[in-house]
Amino acid sequence: MFVPYLFLLASVLSIAGSALGAVSWTATPFNPPSVPLAVRSPYLSAWLAQGGGAALNDVWPSFWTGTTLGWAGYVRVDNVVYNFLGTPSVPNTSAQKAVQQSLKFTSTQSIFVMKAGPVDLTATFISPVEPDDLVRQSLPFAYLSLTAQSNDGGSHSVQVYTDISAEWITGDNSLTANWSTTVGDIITHQVQLENQQLFTEVSDHIQQGSAFYSLAKTSGTTFQTGQDIVVRAQFIDNGVLLNSQDSNFRAVEDDWPVFAFAQDLGTVTSTSSQPVVFSVGHMRDPAVEYIIANDQTQPRNSFFLSEFSTPSDAISFFLGDFQNAMTSANSFDSKVNSDASKISSDYASIVELSIRQVLGATEITVSKNADGSFNTSDVLMFMKEISSDGNVNTVDVIMPSWPAFLYTNPKLGRFLLEGLFRYQATGQYPNKWSVHDLGASYPRALGHNDGNDEPMPVEESGNMLIMTLSYTQASGDNFLITNYFDLLDQWTQFLIADSLIPANQISTDDFAGSLANQTNLAIKGIVGIKAMSVIAGMVGDTARESNYSSIAASYVTQFQGFALSSTGKHLTLSYGNDSSWGLSYNMFADKLLKTNVFPQSLFDLQTSWYKTVFNAFGVPLDTRHTYTKSDWENWTAALVTDATVRDMLVSAVRNYAADGLSSAPLGDWYETTNGGPEGFRARPVVGGHLALLVVDSQLDSSNTTDTQTEKHNAASSSKMQDSIFSFVGVLPALASFFALL
Ligand SMILES: *[C@@H]1O[C@H](CO)[C@@H](O)[C@H](O)[C@H]1NC(C)=O
Ligand SMILES: *[C@@H]1O[C@H](CO)[C@@H](O)[C@H](O)[C@H]1NC(C)=O
Ligand SMILES: *[C@@H]1O[C@H](CO)[C@@H](O)[C@H](O)[C@H]1NC(C)=O
Ligand SMILES: *[C@@H]1O[C@H](CO)[C@@H](O)[C@H](O)[C@H]1NC(C)=O
Ligand SMILES: *[C@@H]1O[C@H](CO)[C@@H](O)[C@H](O)[C@H]1NC(C)=O
Ligand SMILES: *[C@@H]1O[C@H](CO)[C@@H](O)[C@H](O)[C@H]1NC(C)=O
Ligand SMILES: *[C@@H]1O[C@H](CO)[C@@H](O)[C@H](O)[C@H]1NC(C)=O
Ligand SMILES: *[C@@H]1O[C@H](CO)[C@@H](O)[C@H](O)[C@H]1NC(C)=O
Repeated sequence: MFVPYLFLLASVLSIAGSALGAVSWTATPFNPPSVPLAVRSPYLSAWLAQGGGAALNDVWPSFWTGTTLGWAGYVRVDNVVYNFLGTPSVPNTSAQKAVQQSLKFTSTQSIFVMKAGPVDLTATFISPVEPDDLVRQSLPFAYLSLTAQSNDGGSHSVQVYTDISAEWITGDNSLTANWSTTVGDIITHQVQLENQQLFTEVSDHIQQGSAFYSLAKTSGTTFQTGQDIVVRAQFIDNGVLLNSQDSNFRAVEDDWPVFAFAQDLGTVTSTSSQPVVFSVGHMRDPAVEYIIANDQTQPRNSFFLSEFSTPSDAISFFLGDFQNAMTSANSFDSKVNSDASKISSDYASIVELSIRQVLGATEITVSKNADGSFNTSDVLMFMKEISSDGNVNTVDVIMPSWPAFLYTNPKLGRFLLEGLFRYQATGQYPNKWSVHDLGASYPRALGHNDGNDEPMPVEESGNMLIMTLSYTQASGDNFLITNYFDLLDQWTQFLIADSLIPANQISTDDFAGSLANQTNLAIKGIVGIKAMSVIAGMVGDTARESNYSSIAASYVTQFQGFALSSTGKHLTLSYGNDSSWGLSYNMFADKLLKTNVFPQSLFDLQTSWYKTVFNAFGVPLDTRHTYTKSDWENWTAALVTDATVRDMLVSAVRNYAADGLSSAPLGDWYETTNGGPEGFRARPVVGGHLALLVVDSQLDSSNTTDTQTEKHNAASSSKMQDSIFSFVGVLPALASFFALL
């Protein structure tokens, strides 16, 4: 009785939630907490914060932390000026506000249509996702493409304007910037801090390198640098810029220097104009400092530099590549949409929102040979943990994001793991379990030779084994398992000693505190041991293969004795605490690797249990709190054996993401009772939202009445089924109730 009531409440709240998130434009697939604009690296991360909804010209674009990134845009139509991007205010000028008609996001694009009187301006922000092309993927640039078309059948004279501020180069606006503009086939504004600080962040911005803003030069192109209100007034009043440069270098916030372009589109009709394509980027060299043997460090460079010797070559390539990039983006977008829509449209929408965010936390690097040439066979990928802290290649952050790499290109997964393997193979890390991360503060990957990294012994050892086997299975490449067999075996020994009865320790959900005998950690450890059995088999070590396999099997039997609640209805959160339970998301690994160590009955049991403990916005992480993690909801959705439960989990997360209660880049940690966000944002772990794309689901398309569902419905859960069906019956009534509010 209690359960159906909760579910009813849940659905009521989620309808209320979508009403809250209602906006005046068409949002496809929904209006997210924050719209990705230019999201390609930890330092090129521009978003449009939404909350209950904000048009492209209602707020300034912001860095993932929420601080402003000046990016302003105007369109001039028959001498009437409309502001379409950012919220600039220019004294003694008059500009109207364009009216947002629609917002659409795909995996790589965010597309806004802004009505500027008789002309519709389409602003498309493209952050390419090129998982199979290391040069393109590593280019820290994004496109803004503008097209105009008449919406009244008439012809109109149109000019467009955009600028960026120096806020793109620092976390401290009181610091002095300098800049220059280079004019050739392409016009590029370059801006940087006068005092460069290698590998150093302030408020999560890097204090090194330069921002670049570029546009191909045609007859109608003009540019200008100078004080924001002066340069913008010049365009508003005249429709052209002065091709002049301000050389009074000063602090970012001192009369706010901006770097601007204007483009005359001539006469625009009801056919869409040619696109005006800007590129915005942030690059630095070297990019990452990485620990090698004997406590030496190696500066590592962005991979694309192995192909282009100067920033200007890279920018010429990037702008020249626009047509290709669009073709590639459109085909990637439609592949993701078609794959994810096989689960459901809710699911597709979340995957689409997550992909730029996960790849935008990463950078691909290469090293140099002694003679200064690049060694392109030495590729490492780095990931910033983002928001929870700035750790480098955190193992338990790579793990949840893993499905995104498996889906896009498993090789990227190898490049993420390899830096961890290489460091630990130098012997400098003193613990017998896997390190937690490669360095406390991105982009310094300096290791933890003191062994005092955040201790997650079972968590990280299990994660490394699981991801390594997963990579090997997906790629057929034995590189990691042959080169790092000894480390993998060392971590397995640790799991054999410590994972059946896990000592008091934290798991990846460190914010929830430490606990002894965590059921979910034991699951991870046991799957890890079994993974090593499979790995041993792959390299022909049959003795270890069978030894570890029988240890895993015996642990599974003992584990069930420890971990089942006395009612037999669910697994506990920790051994012996019958009233406790949690998302046993680590069972996903058993499905992913097809190791099948846990009996099907355990998957069915957990599936039935989750149905009974659903809150409005999903199943809590565990019984200590009512919050949850969207990545773990997803993993859990991928392991449940009942399409109803899977779809409830999917929709819960989608409702949270669309509820208008957050204005930060999608946060993975949220409250299941009301859909409110908890402390995290913009983390790469949303790669876990792709979990359903990488397991061979036992369930095909969303279908709550298919035979498989019926088969898996234990008698004990049939009441829940009934309540769902009766609830569906009252939906229209509820809908009309909310329509009255
Ligand atoms: C705006 O116009 C007023 C009145 O003419 C003048 O005092 C002021 O200096 C102008 N401001 C700017 C920024 O031009
Ligand atoms: C700007 O500052 C950088 C970093 O200190 C320096 O290398 C560059 O020469 C300066 N550029 C100009 C135009 O002053
Ligand atoms: C290039 O890097 C690979 C991979 O790290 C390494 O094995 C090789 O020795 C390097 N080549 C040179 C010339 O240093
Ligand atoms: C952990 O579980 C084992 C097996 O049930 C038990 O013997 C041990 O006392 C538990 N440890 C703690 C700290 O609760
Ligand atoms: C199996 O592995 C465990 C843990 O390393 C070891 O203690 C044991 O001796 C091994 N058994 C055999 C038969 O090799
Ligand atoms: C059992 O779990 C519940 C919920 O997580 C918790 O509140 C309680 O303190 C735990 N009991 C013991 C004895 O640890
Ligand atoms: C995964 O999470 C997203 C939101 O973060 C949600 O919308 C999506 O439906 C979830 N997928 C599954 C399978 O739970
Ligand atoms: C749902 O399941 C029923 C019964 O198995 C089947 O007839 C129907 O085609 C399925 N619908 C979808 C959308 O898969």
